[in-house]
Amino acid sequence: MAAPTASQWIDACDRDDIDEEDVIRFDHDGRTFALYRSPDDAYFATDGLCTHEKVHLADGLVMDNIIECPKHNGRFDYRTGEAKGAPVCVNLRTYPVKVEDGRVWIGID
Ligand code: FES
Repeated sequence: MAAPTASQWIDACDRDDIDEEDVIRFDHDGRTFALYRSPDDAYFATDGLCTHEKVHLADGLVMDNIIECPKHNGRFDYRTGEAKGAPVCVNLRTYPVKVEDGRVWIGID
């Protein structure tokens, strides 16, 4: 999978707004994203809605590098966006993330 590219960097939150092994919702310009902090303190971003029935993934559960959707327990690898089994079969889109001066930035197009 090719690395996602960014044409615009958006200041999303303070790095401490996301606990380790957790996810938060971030809305910008009519779009919804999910921001993750992994157990090894890395940050990731995906589209914020499940590809199955458009439920907010930020209401789901993070386990290692997996986000589990709160509605039907579909799972994605949030590092790659890959759907990890039924009922989800469409991957999530991922976005680049950088941390600068304690702030988390998401790169969008
Ligand atoms: S809405 Fe996410 S698994 Fe069904």
